[in-house]
Amino acid sequence: MPARGVLVRQNDVACPCPPSNPRSGTAMGSDPSTEIAYGLGCSGFAPPPACTPSELLLSLPFNSGASHDSLRAQESQALDLRRGPEGPPAPSVLGFGSSRHPQGSGGDFLGWYDPSKVVPSSELDSIKEASKRIQDQSELLVTVGIGGSYLGARAVLEALPFEEASENGVDIDFAGHHMSARDTEMLLDHLDDYEISINVISKSGTTTEPAIAFRLLKAYMEERYGKEEAKTRIYATTDAKKGALRKLATEEGYSTFVIPDDVGGRFSVLSPVGLLPIAAAGYDIDVLLAGARGAFVKYGASTSVLENDCLRYAASRVALYRQGKAIEILSTFEPAFHYLIEWWKQLNGESEGKNGTGLFPAGCEFSTDLHSMGQWIQEGQRNAFETFLIEEKSSASVVVPDTGDDLDGLAYLAGRDLSEINLEAWKGVSLAHYDGGMPNSSLIVETMNTRTLGEMIHFFERATGISCYMQGVNPFDQPGVEAYKANMFALLGKPGFEAQAKALRARL
Ligand code: PA5
Repeated sequence: MPARGVLVRQNDVACPCPPSNPRSGTAMGSDPSTEIAYGLGCSGFAPPPACTPSELLLSLPFNSGASHDSLRAQESQALDLRRGPEGPPAPSVLGFGSSRHPQGSGGDFLGWYDPSKVVPSSELDSIKEASKRIQDQSELLVTVGIGGSYLGARAVLEALPFEEASENGVDIDFAGHHMSARDTEMLLDHLDDYEISINVISKSGTTTEPAIAFRLLKAYMEERYGKEEAKTRIYATTDAKKGALRKLATEEGYSTFVIPDDVGGRFSVLSPVGLLPIAAAGYDIDVLLAGARGAFVKYGASTSVLENDCLRYAASRVALYRQGKAIEILSTFEPAFHYLIEWWKQLNGESEGKNGTGLFPAGCEFSTDLHSMGQWIQEGQRNAFETFLIEEKSSASVVVPDTGDDLDGLAYLAGRDLSEINLEAWKGVSLAHYDGGMPNSSLIVETMNTRTLGEMIHFFERATGISCYMQGVNPFDQPGVEAYKANMFALLGKPGFEAQAKALRARL
C-alpha cells in the first residue's frame, strides 16, 4: 500500500528497498548517461524524502528503475527554463522560475494557480445558491460548452462515484461540443422527458459550436416554458464584460457567472465553469477546492525534483521527450476516468503543442484497449512512454462467484474482488509493457473521491504549466486553434471572410 500523499518514487511500488535491479538506471534504447528509466523493480537506492507519508490521498509512485543520480542529472537540464532565446521566461510563481522574471510569458494567466483565489467567496455562495435553484426547479441541467468550457466538468462528474453526490443532485447532459445533427436531434428529442435548466459556458462568448447549440436550446426553452420562465432556468458563465454571450445574457436578464480574465479555458474547471454544474450534480465543491488547495501547498513546498512530486513528474516527461519519446499515453483500468483522460489530453495538447514541439498526449482504457492498442504499445514504434492512472481501492465491490465447479476454468478467481483482479492486471501490464520497451510510471490514487480529484486536478494543471515552461512554450495560449475557425467561417460564408472563402474553394 503506497503511503498517503502524492509521491514520486524512483523505485518499486511494492518494495521500496535498496536491492539491485539490472534495469536500474537504464531506459531501453536510450543514452544511459541522460535518461530516466522506468519499470517495475527495486532500484538500488533508498526511498527519496517524498515517500514520507502525508495527509493527502494521492500517490504517484513511478514504477521506475531510475537512479537518483540520473534524476539529479536531469534536474538541471529539465529545469532549464530558458532553453535558448526563443523560450519565454517562466513566471516565478510556478515555484521554480527565476525571480528575475516575476511576470514571465503567460504570467497574466495564472489565476488558476492558487485554488483559494480563483473564485471569491461571494461568487462561491452564488454558485451554491444557483445550484440549489437548479435542483429545486429541474431534473436535468444541460451544460453547453466546448474545450475548457466543457471537459473539466465532464471529467469530474464521470470520475466521481455516485455515492459522493447528494441525493438532490440533478443529471447533467452536455451540448455545444460538436455540430452533429444526429446527436443534437437526439438531445432535443429527449428533453421533453425532464424538467430542464441550461448552463451556457463560453469565456470568449463567441465560439461557434456552443453558440449554435445555445441558439437551439434557448428557442426550445422559450417555446416550452415561455420567455419569462425560461430566463429563470438559464445560467450563463462567461467573461465579465466582453463577448456576444455577455451581451445576450445582460439583455435577457439571465443569472451570470464570471470566468476570471486570468483563467484560461483548460485551467478553468475550479472556476464557475466547472463548479456550477458540479455543484448542481450534488458534489461538494468546497471539498473539491480543499483538495486542490492541499495540492497547491504541497507542490509549492520544494523546488527539488527529489522532493516535489509534481515537479518530478513534469521533469521526467520532459526528459523522456528530450530522449526522443514523442507520445505520452495516459492509461487507466477504470472506464470512469475516460473524460479525465480527455481533459488531460486537452490540458496538455493545447498547452504544449506549439512551435513545432510538445508531447502528443494519448489515452488508453484497459482492458478494452489491451485488445487493440495493447499490441502497438507492446511491440510498435518505441517512441512513447506510458503513465498509468490507477485507483487502488475502488468504492465498488464485485466478487467473482463460487459456482462449485470449474467448467469455465475460473475457480481460482472465485471469491476475489474485480478490483483486486484489475490491480493485478495493471501490475502485469506495466511489467509486460516495460519488457517490451515502453517506459512507464504510475499515478495511483488511493480512492477517487471529491478531495483526491481536486488534488489531482491541481497536480496535472501545475505539471502542465511546468512542463511547458521547461520546453520553452507559453502554456496559456492556443494560437493554432484559430486556423480551423478561419477556414470554417470562410466556407460557411461569414461576412468578412470572402477572399479567404474564394481561395479555399479553389483548393477543394
Ligand atoms: O482551453 C481553452 O482556452 C479552449 O479550449 C477554450 O476553452 C475553448 O476554445 C472554448 O472557448 P470559449 O470558452 O471561449 O467558448
